[in-house]
Amino acid sequence: MKNTLRLDRLLANFGFGSRNEIKKMVRNGLVTVDGTVVSDASIHVDPEKSIIVANGKTLNYRKFIYVMMNKPAGVISATYDARLKTVTDLLPDELACFELFPAGRLDIDTEGLILLTNDGQLAHNLLSPKKHVAKRYYALVSGQVTEEDAAAFSEGVVLDDGYKTMPAELVIIRSGLRSEIELILHEGKFHQVKRMFEAVGKKVLYLKRLQIAGLMLDETLAPGQCRELTPEEVGLLRGDGGQFSPF
Ligand code: URA
Repeated sequence: MKNTLRLDRLLANFGFGSRNEIKKMVRNGLVTVDGTVVSDASIHVDPEKSIIVANGKTLNYRKFIYVMMNKPAGVISATYDARLKTVTDLLPDELACFELFPAGRLDIDTEGLILLTNDGQLAHNLLSPKKHVAKRYYALVSGQVTEEDAAAFSEGVVLDDGYKTMPAELVIIRSGLRSEIELILHEGKFHQVKRMFEAVGKKVLYLKRLQIAGLMLDETLAPGQCRELTPEEVGLLRGDGGQFSPF
């Protein structure tokens, strides 16, 4: 099947400039397709097959873009907000042009792994309540988290609205006046981690997402930083790595 796109639109989408700037580049003979200088910015090209060079830079075409971000606290998981900073506001220019959206939500005060993409199908599969995609969190909790809490979580606990959670895996890293834990959920109810701890009389003080399906947060990313996924990492989100069970 032919998969052609208009050259000026394609270059604009990949951050080479505005449509007018690209037209100017073409007029100045600065755009080539498979080595031939182009004279018309509106021609259709197949970016998967052709080598497109503009202003000395080769277009690195990707049909879909997948970005992992280490979300900082104070930023919301949305594409636009009139008042608050959003995760898409943090994207660098070279990624901001792709109309990425966050696949899933973290609370404003939660940090850690969030995926931004323009692949609606993959996002749908990750978020579908029917798929039970696993997500792993680290939390600092006030009070002593006990093996009884772990047993309760593995049975499911009843939240403030009467909903009984699916079995979740709780691992206690350190138990004390403040406890450190990791928790794997297979569903994503509103404020779920915080509400599960409230159900056993405890409060989450700090929350960070570490993993979605087989994809782990790259800990070299400082809060607010992001990078594109490798093809292997995209495969892990699609379940190529099999069922994820880190414990
Ligand atoms: N559970 C929460 O309580 N908050 C999040 O941001 C994610 C999961």
